[in-house]
Amino acid sequence: MIEDHDHKDHDHRATWWQRGVIYQIYPRSFQDSNGDGVGDLAGILARLDYLQWLGVDAVWISPVYPSPMADFGYDVSDYCNIDPLFGTMADFDALADAIHARSLKLIMDLVPNHTSDRHPWFNESRASRENPKRDWYVWRDAKRDGAPPNNWLSEFGGPAWTWDAHTQQYYYHAYLSAQPDLNWRNPDVRAAFDGILKFWFDRGVDGFRIDTVQHLFEDESLRDNPPNPDWRPGDAPTAALSRLYTTDRPELWPVLKHWRQLADIYQDRVLISEAYVPVDKLAPYYGDRGDAVHLPFNFHLIGCDWSAGPLADLIARYERMLPPHGWPNWVLGNHDRARIASRVGPAQAANAAMLLLTLRGTPTMYYGDELGMTNVAIPPDQVRDPWEKNVAGYGLGRDPVRTPMAWDTSANAGFSPGLPWLPVHADWKTRNVDAQRSDPASLLNLTRALLALRRRESALSIGGYDGIWAAGPVLCYVRQSGARRILVCLNLADRAAHVALPGRAIESVLLTTDGPPPFQPNSVSVPAISLSPNQGIVALLKDA
Ligand code: GLC
Repeated sequence: MIEDHDHKDHDHRATWWQRGVIYQIYPRSFQDSNGDGVGDLAGILARLDYLQWLGVDAVWISPVYPSPMADFGYDVSDYCNIDPLFGTMADFDALADAIHARSLKLIMDLVPNHTSDRHPWFNESRASRENPKRDWYVWRDAKRDGAPPNNWLSEFGGPAWTWDAHTQQYYYHAYLSAQPDLNWRNPDVRAAFDGILKFWFDRGVDGFRIDTVQHLFEDESLRDNPPNPDWRPGDAPTAALSRLYTTDRPELWPVLKHWRQLADIYQDRVLISEAYVPVDKLAPYYGDRGDAVHLPFNFHLIGCDWSAGPLADLIARYERMLPPHGWPNWVLGNHDRARIASRVGPAQAANAAMLLLTLRGTPTMYYGDELGMTNVAIPPDQVRDPWEKNVAGYGLGRDPVRTPMAWDTSANAGFSPGLPWLPVHADWKTRNVDAQRSDPASLLNLTRALLALRRRESALSIGGYDGIWAAGPVLCYVRQSGARRILVCLNLADRAAHVALPGRAIESVLLTTDGPPPFQPNSVSVPAISLSPNQGIVALLKDA
């Protein structure tokens, strides 16, 4: 149990990315405006009314840059342009303007670890060993027997080295062979990215989500990675080795600090890093003086057991890890991980939303989770994700979580007049924005109410904690700002539960997962609370 987090009660100085809520759009799947079955920028523009109605503060858009789409945009062939599939630079400017006109913020994806193998830089680099851009990528000789330089594995299957017959060397790729890693020890690569950051900042982008940044550097002497002690036969072969010499290398921190200095030249911009690392390895991403990224993504809810004890422990552990200058954040899902409603089951989806939107720290929501969209089974002949294709049979494929957003009951759920690139979920006729908007008890309306409550209550957006604990199956915590204290209780079991609250009395119930009208009034004045199965509540506490 944590009791002493008042010192972390931040005040009016809080920035938009501390108070606000980020909404991730996977652009291929949000809204198609031209009937090609793939979402685009004009589609996002057409849906801004929805995002404003919902009440989010910032939109993060996964990559929309020109790309051969080997990894659906995470293989960039031009960092300062828009892929025709998604629209034009004029569409981008129109979208950015419209987002800002609504006082929302726009976060773009930055992919610095690797380019597409069709990026002009790589074309030059592979042209000859003497090419001035040869050293922009990681090239090494074969071992004497022709084997790759070491045992490193690609995240997407097979060795992380691909042989280039023309120049007789291997190049390194942490992901697909179509995604060669840039050599971040080369100052020209750094300078090129400075230019890219400035290009988009100058165009008004409010921040970047920085892709797979833990992979930026590899051990210079190419030491073999040791076996992963947690790996068991039957686990995916890509995880057989630990990533000791291929991720989180010390050379990373100065680069993050450099980007921060660059962001700080502009006003109010945010840097978010994507790195799947243990809680105790997150702190360095903030920089030792709060001088690296603002928000190192915290993915730990994704892997946590959905029960009160482990969740309370995780929250407390994460809070303890945070350096004094570190602002927390939480993520429940994204385009790479199973949908939350599939992980916790439909009965717990409302508690999941309540958790994400009442914890201390900036929440990132994933499109469609507000409808309770689940993983969609993809028939084998419709698989698109290269990860699934390369490492089949381990359930790694990400297509199931990237399916189209459902808007209404028109063709293809209003996503596209053409055939969607991935199938729409089976229950789209009822699980769509229109249907849930008109149902006061829907997950969508609950999410909207939670967003409104978080905006209204500083205790929820920027307050500290006054206790985090597990009471049987119920996860409880108190958020506090000044004298205002707000209790959150989430019953994570499908049986009724009773929580004693010694020393704390409830003033009023602000919201419950089963919608209005909330709660039995007779329990409001007593220091205890009864929860029905799967119920979550947010309540205002009486002054101590
Ligand atoms: C990140 C992205 C993922 C992509 C990978 C390689 O993890 O989120 O979608 O495949 O990096 O760029």
